[in-house]
Amino acid sequence: MPTERFHLAGAEILVGADVEETVRIAAGQFAALTRKIAAEGRAVNVALSGGNTPRPLFQALAADPFAGLIPWDSLQFFWGDERNVPPGSPDSNYSMARELLLSKVPVPQANIHRIPTGNGTAIEAADLYERTLRELVPRSGGLPRFDYNLLGLGLNGHTASLFPGRPSLHEQQRLVVADHVDQVNSWRVTLTPPVLNNAAQITFFVLGEEKADAVKKVLEGSRDHERIPAQLIAPRDGTLTWILDSAAASQLTRA
Ligand code: 6PG
Repeated sequence: MPTERFHLAGAEILVGADVEETVRIAAGQFAALTRKIAAEGRAVNVALSGGNTPRPLFQALAADPFAGLIPWDSLQFFWGDERNVPPGSPDSNYSMARELLLSKVPVPQANIHRIPTGNGTAIEAADLYERTLRELVPRSGGLPRFDYNLLGLGLNGHTASLFPGRPSLHEQQRLVVADHVDQVNSWRVTLTPPVLNNAAQITFFVLGEEKADAVKKVLEGSRDHERIPAQLIAPRDGTLTWILDSAAASQLTRA
């Protein structure tokens, strides 16, 4: 159970006392959501985030009690963004998820849809992934609709690979774009705001004191999508949840 539960800026905020409790909150949300959808006889379309923060969450999902609760064969795995590296690279978001989660649970290989980076240009990977989303993810409102979209938060307020000042922030037609991000000196492939915001459940999972300032800016700062891209995330017809440990939530105003 969360230590704290409140609402801020149209989002549900769930706070765990420490990392372990926060991981359990996020894993519990994922298990409950996937079980509910699978019980309706539907596939569960999931988009994962990358970076380091999700590591303990993926490890928890791959272990008891959660691994035994989740209907793995009903899940279809996608990614919200990827670096333009081969699947075996230590920088690959896909590799991290495969190492910690997907190699340890019975998800059919055919249900894993990585962003096809590393064997061509990032632009080619984005074009291919756009087609994959349009073919495989059911639509709502004319766009593919993920059932669950996990997102992280960068210190500079980026999320997925939507970075401050980048053209991708204004993309309204494409579902997936490639971008050379000078701030990290690398090519990235990212889902765009329209498809991210078309998800039914969007969960930011953020841990640590170092992120407290960025969390505060996103949720309570002045609206500035250009400078704080995570402020672009507002589901068209869905739920936005921030799952934070007390350190990451430490600067938030409680009613
Ligand atoms: C990526 C992620 C990115 C990440 C943030 C936070 O490809 O890096 O998708 O959006 O969530 O950069 O990264 P950490 O969790 O490593 O702090």
